[in-house]
Amino acid sequence: MYPHFGGGTYIFMKFSDKAKEVLEENWRGAYTIPSSTLYPFQWNWDAGFHALGWMYFKPENAIEEVRSIFKGQWKNGMLPHIVFHQENENYFPGPAEWRTLVAKNRVEGIETSGITQLPVFGFFLERLDQIADEKGLNISAFIEEIFPKVLHFHRYLYTNRDHLNEGLPFVLHNWESTDNAPIWDDIWDRMDLTAARDVSKLRKDLKNVDVSMRPTNEHYKRYIYLIDLLIKSQYEANSLDDNYPFRVQENLFIGLLIRSNEGLIKLAKKYNFDCGELIHWQEKSKTSFVNKFWDKENEMFYPFDLNTNHLIKKDIIGGVASLFAGVPSKEQAEKLVCKIQSDFLLNENWFLCPSYSPKAADFDSKKYWRGPLWPNVNWLLYHGLKKYGYDKLAQKIKDQTVYLIEEVGFFEYFDPRPESENSLETKGLGGQNFSWTAAIYLDFTYNKAIL
Ligand code: DGY
Repeated sequence: MYPHFGGGTYIFMKFSDKAKEVLEENWRGAYTIPSSTLYPFQWNWDAGFHALGWMYFKPENAIEEVRSIFKGQWKNGMLPHIVFHQENENYFPGPAEWRTLVAKNRVEGIETSGITQLPVFGFFLERLDQIADEKGLNISAFIEEIFPKVLHFHRYLYTNRDHLNEGLPFVLHNWESTDNAPIWDDIWDRMDLTAARDVSKLRKDLKNVDVSMRPTNEHYKRYIYLIDLLIKSQYEANSLDDNYPFRVQENLFIGLLIRSNEGLIKLAKKYNFDCGELIHWQEKSKTSFVNKFWDKENEMFYPFDLNTNHLIKKDIIGGVASLFAGVPSKEQAEKLVCKIQSDFLLNENWFLCPSYSPKAADFDSKKYWRGPLWPNVNWLLYHGLKKYGYDKLAQKIKDQTVYLIEEVGFFEYFDPRPESENSLETKGLGGQNFSWTAAIYLDFTYNKAIL
């Protein structure tokens, strides 16, 4: 726990300096690792948040961060969820496990994973451009360089992951979105594990983080089995076997894609780039999103499992974070706000916002995406709520995030239970000195612009 220095500017100065220090410590010359103990490479959606944090005090690092992640982009546009810029033994699964040499589309000369992650660069590019304007910096050459790469990634999603032509690209692995969220549980239960391997001894994450905070070995077995199946398909999403067990149109992933499309469209208008294709995708995605994911009975957005043709009705935070996409109607937004207050808080002393409804029987306040509060999701919620005019709730979420970081530290995620049930000393979970937590702290405390 960091020392508490009392009120006023002193705290602000100390903690913003500390946040910068976290980013500096995790900087590896051209990119930032999320955390030295857990994630020693560059991760995709983390890199977007890191760039945002760097933009406030070292814009040149923000630019390098984005350039570095796109160095791993595959020929077909797929932007991998990990880029292994250098060797490191402290992570499983590393490049040897991913075996991306089988993929004709992989990029030459740099190791990567073979799956993607939530599409954040359209809106982060827009955001970096806004901050540059506020600072009087001209980053137009950088925008011109990266814009086509982000567009290429979105084109990959619309042409390789959207066989129903609905504008709703599917995810094919849980690591493409919220790792061990309860929405995947039925898929795990249905999976035929005859050919799956026990990988419990290969795991490195449990060396540094308590098992209670990480996914189970039973789940890891399934995560790695999916990779084995993807290797067999040579990582071609278009030609996956019909029996491939994991194909989900996931609303958080698609909500971020929609918001990223919007970011690109705004940049295209400002910089005079062509955006015809983007506008076409965007209209299709927005219409399908509301038609397919909204559940009238539970008044919530849910992911759609393409293998069972059913909505996955679990109240995870991704449902309410749909606000960030700006797609819900005013009435739907009102329902989502009621849902936050009625189902994501057991009482007023809880911290907003747990990643899974504490009312669920299998809610777990410590286990990764099955209950803990995540600063990056709170960032999405803050902007989503502001967009719909729920300023008070947005402010509360922001204040609580800042409070937890200042009082507990730059943790990956936090226990959302009231302080009476779980003291500040035990609230910090997962990786420590976590880069996106530091970046979000800087944005929450410096920021004037709203996305
Ligand atoms: C992990 O290793 O837990 C990551 O989230 C997967 O990318």
